[in-house]
Parts: sequence; structure tokens; C-alpha cells
Amino acid sequence: MRQQLIEAAKTAISRAYAPYSGYKVGAAVLAAGKIYSGVNVENASYGLTMCAERAAVTAAVSDGAKKMEAVAIAVERGSPSPCGACRQVLREFAEDMDIILVAGDGTVRDTTLTRLLPDSFGPSFLSERRRGT
Ligand code: THU
Repeated sequence: MRQQLIEAAKTAISRAYAPYSGYKVGAAVLAAGKIYSGVNVENASYGLTMCAERAAVTAAVSDGAKKMEAVAIAVERGSPSPCGACRQVLREFAEDMDIILVAGDGTVRDTTLTRLLPDSFGPSFLSERRRGT
């Protein structure tokens, strides 16, 4: 499954829409045995850009998955690292998860969400009632 996740992230890169930065990112989330991919989607109004990780999480949640186990993030050139906003969005659906970073030259680096986002804020900080789950 790990290799499939990596391949899904790498395959997604070609679908990235990054005409402004030229930094193409593909992400693949593993949730309940299924793989959901996403790409970065930039916008002429730069601030509206969507990161690949958040696109993948959105695809998973849209399919009903809310518990995420791992994410692979692949870039065309250079090396990836999920931005702070994406780390927090991933945290919403996992207290911890494996994060697999795939560089443009194929180098793979393994890390975890707790390593990248220590002492994090998450859903349990809010009362059950207010979460509405
Ligand atoms: N980007 C991602 O897709 N994920 C990240 O975690 C870092 C940044 C995208 C956003 C933008 O399209 C481009 O990379 C340059 O910031």
C-alpha cells in the first residue's frame, strides 16, 4: 500500500495546475484502505491557491472518509514539505499519521505528522456538542 500511495502521488504531479509558481505537487492520502489523490491548483488571484495535500484531504472527506492513515507528497523538482496550513488540515483527520515525502529525483523521506506539527491543536480541544459530530 505504501508503494501504491507513493505512485499515486507521483502520478498526480502531471495533473497539477501550477502556471504561476511552476512548482507542481501531487499528494495521495490513505483513508480506510482507499487512496485519494490531489494536486495543487493555483489561481490568477494568487491567494486562492489550493495545496495538493488539502485537495487530497477534500477528496477523501467528500467520499465519506474521515480517518486518515498516511499521506504521500511528491514534487516534480526539488523536495517537498507540507506547509503549515496543510499540516493543520491533516491533523483534523488524524492525531498522527505517516508522511512520505518524495523528491523530484525520487528520493523518499519518511516522517510523521507529530514530528512536523508537535503539540498540535485538534478536534478534541472542542466539546463534542460544539463539534456537532
Ligand atoms: N504547495 C502545495 O501544494 N503543498 C505544500 O505543502 C506547499 C506548497 C503548492 C502551492 C503552490 O501552488 C506552490 O506549491 C508553490 O507554493
